[in-house]
Amino acid sequence: MDRNYMELLDELLEGRMKLAVVGLGYVGLPLALEFARFVDVVGVDVDEALVAKLWQGVDPNGEIGGESFVDRRISFTTNPAELKGARFIVVAVPTPVDKHNKPDLSPLMGATRSVGKYLKRGDVVVYESTVYPGCTEEECVPLLESLSGLKCGVDFKVGYSPERINPGDTEHSLQNTVKIVSGCDDVALGVIAPVYELVVKAGVHRAPGMKVAEAAKIIENTQRDVNIALMNELSILFNRMGINTYDVLKAAGTKWNFLPFTPGLVGGHCIGVDPYYLVHKAAALKYHTQMVASGRFVNDSMGGYIAKQTVKRLLGASDVSGAAGVAPGGASPDGGAAVAAAPAAHRAGLRVLVMGFTYKENVSDIRNTRVADIVHELVSYNISVDVVDPKADASEVMEEYGITITDSASGRYDAVILAVAHKEYREMGAEGISALLEDGGLFVDVRGLFRELEGKFRYWSL
Ligand SMILES: NC(=O)c1ccc[n+]([C@@H]2O[C@H](COP(=O)([O-])OP(=O)(O)OC[C@H]3O[C@@H](n4cnc5c(N)ncnc54)[C@H](O)[C@@H]3O)[C@@H](O)[C@H]2O)c1
Repeated sequence: MDRNYMELLDELLEGRMKLAVVGLGYVGLPLALEFARFVDVVGVDVDEALVAKLWQGVDPNGEIGGESFVDRRISFTTNPAELKGARFIVVAVPTPVDKHNKPDLSPLMGATRSVGKYLKRGDVVVYESTVYPGCTEEECVPLLESLSGLKCGVDFKVGYSPERINPGDTEHSLQNTVKIVSGCDDVALGVIAPVYELVVKAGVHRAPGMKVAEAAKIIENTQRDVNIALMNELSILFNRMGINTYDVLKAAGTKWNFLPFTPGLVGGHCIGVDPYYLVHKAAALKYHTQMVASGRFVNDSMGGYIAKQTVKRLLGASDVSGAAGVAPGGASPDGGAAVAAAPAAHRAGLRVLVMGFTYKENVSDIRNTRVADIVHELVSYNISVDVVDPKADASEVMEEYGITITDSASGRYDAVILAVAHKEYREMGAEGISALLEDGGLFVDVRGLFRELEGKFRYWSL
């Protein structure tokens, strides 16, 4: 291998050069702290408040305890000029979609500009942000080259290594989960792989190219999205048939190759977003992905469906199958028309409690949470809705969604919707939940946590 790059690992280990991580969120921070056990790390982020917290050893996302900051060779800064002292630079900034569900590459391009400005001959830049196949080569590399005046492959190397971290999951960690690594050429791969092997004890998988690694990441989440969408669609169908979805899944799950997916809300910044990157790239290639797009359609509709099912049941609708208002071949699967026609007087005074607002259980992250759809839909029927969540930051929720999170439930409700299966709610048990209901109240158990309640009182789950 090129002597210059062969020495890079030693330079890092001996503290002659630093490793930088740009973007210190759910992905970047744990990675930076783990590398800081072995090499000098500089963590760069545009968020001043975040950097101040990190200096105090506090992770605002609540994923990492203070002990992980102790005895680490790490500094934090908002000043990208500190990248001058780094030779191995990892980029882990957000890759969201815009309001039209198109990739919003502005944070990625912003971080690339910071890196490109201070890029030196012999540097290695590895992207971890989730992107569509080809994005690193087509969007990031040209910007790095134009800002630095250097040539990728010749003067510096680029790689792509997708992250598999799963917030809230204490079982699968950076260290014990195989990580995919790739490079713009063999020399790049030859240096990127051993650097990651320092921290990923489970080892690395060397993908034959950056596009392969980008595609692998995006289909991991797309596969989950499509499978959950199938379960959601079946749940809508079984609701019409008067069959309990979980009973069906339990029975089907006795076959060795039946996959254990369940219906539910798909939010967050990965599963609910990444498939849109794939759809975007496919469209640019004049291929219109049917399955991927329909998975998004079904999953994005589930919040409205749950709200409308709740309202129908509260109003004592004679038909709760969700059949009304659904046209074949692509109309909303939410049966909205029947509810919208209900007389306003019926809704007066109805109170609903929504338990859980974050995009999934046991995390504080509210990005792209589909619980917001449930709340907005209920409010559109003039129903009074209280929302509680032990993890979500109330001011963030207000800012992002205009929804008030109250400290605690107040009194009894006509319906309780258990939207997110936080540990605290599991521990409340069926009795705790039922104590929040008016006599004859409805319990909507989105994730089917307390299925034993079915038959005991008014209960509905997906
Ligand atoms: N969170 C996950 O579970 C997860 C898992 C796998 C992959 N990913 C992917 O990893 C990437 C990062 O996700 P995340 O959840 O860590 O995001 P995040 O929002 O938690 O953190 C990103 C950080 O980047 C910072 N940032 C934004 N623009 C910047 C810039 N120009 N320069 C420096 N810092 C900048 C932000 O201030 C923020 O602190 C995304 O592409 C995401 O899809 C996330």
